[in-house]
Amino acid sequence: MAIISSKKQPQEPNRQPKQPREVAKAPPSDSKDNLLQPEAAVDETKQEESIRPQRFADYIGQKDLKDVLDIAIKAAKSRGEVLDHLLLYGPPGLGKTTMAMILASEMGVSCKITSAPALERPRDIVGLLVNLKPGDILFIDEIHRLSRMTEEILYPAMEDYRLDITIGKGSSTKTRSIPLSKFTLVGATTRAGALTSPLRDRFGLIQKLRFYEVDELSKIVLRSAQLLQTNITEDGATEVARRSRGTPRIANRLLKRVRDYAEVKSFNEVNEKVAAEALQLFQVDPCGLDWTDRRMLSVIIEQFNGGPVGLETIAAATGEDTQTIEEVYEPYLMQIGYLSRTTRGRVATPTAYKHLGFKPPNEQLSLLP
Ligand code: ADE
Repeated sequence: MAIISSKKQPQEPNRQPKQPREVAKAPPSDSKDNLLQPEAAVDETKQEESIRPQRFADYIGQKDLKDVLDIAIKAAKSRGEVLDHLLLYGPPGLGKTTMAMILASEMGVSCKITSAPALERPRDIVGLLVNLKPGDILFIDEIHRLSRMTEEILYPAMEDYRLDITIGKGSSTKTRSIPLSKFTLVGATTRAGALTSPLRDRFGLIQKLRFYEVDELSKIVLRSAQLLQTNITEDGATEVARRSRGTPRIANRLLKRVRDYAEVKSFNEVNEKVAAEALQLFQVDPCGLDWTDRRMLSVIIEQFNGGPVGLETIAAATGEDTQTIEEVYEPYLMQIGYLSRTTRGRVATPTAYKHLGFKPPNEQLSLLP
């Protein structure tokens, strides 16, 4: 960890003479930005359908979550009840929607999918609720963005399967209750802390999705390659997995780019070399860092001696907004141990120094007489 006494006179960090690792060189291009974004691009959700696992047995990774849900499903089925309301949180692209759809197929019910920004008017949520059949799953993505009115409609719906409708205005206001089918609400969010407590308290299960390990992502890539009829070797799949930021959506996206590359160059299989060449072309570095990750880390190292430095300052220096940095970039950089968050700000770790070709501060200190 870099310890500095003053930020007023940042020193030039000691660049190592040669960068030993393959690096992304150029400023961001559109294609690279989209490739490593964990959020689904327009129309991508539809494309994902063909390779999305349908049952638990096909879903790779998230073992703890699967164990919890397996018990919940078995218990609900044996009692003939609906599943408890479930809140799934974690970074984008890890499979929250997929998990909701699997829950529905395991329970033998339908899954209605929507997102908070699509539920602007009270009638949007009312329309969905009244059409639910017994046991159905209502999946609301980005649930932390619900309007207050929509949220208040959800409270009695979640608690008592009841819709409270207010008719009229002023002194002639009347409330009518409409019974709803018993259903399960599955909420998904990248920001569990941004939910109001009355909403959070109405979920019986609150579960986190974690970044995937490289071996899990490799298996996902192999499975998807088979469905896409792409010939990929195990080390080819591992190469794609290593660069996928712990995120299946990114792994599947990179697989498609690698497949294109192999086809155009007439390679009959995607091996480690072909995958590495293709992904270098798309400027995805060996750890899956893109230009913005690298820029963030080098700003912290070069301009602020490795930190600690505040989020707002990093945002101003990189031109990214604070929310994107917090929700998209930082979770992965922290996961791979390149960044730590302290009470005094963000700090680049010695591993980040090394990856970017800088000499880590403790090594510098140990060189002192
Ligand atoms: N495709 C996307 N996510 C997956 C997962 N967790 N398991 C299998 N295939 C996937």
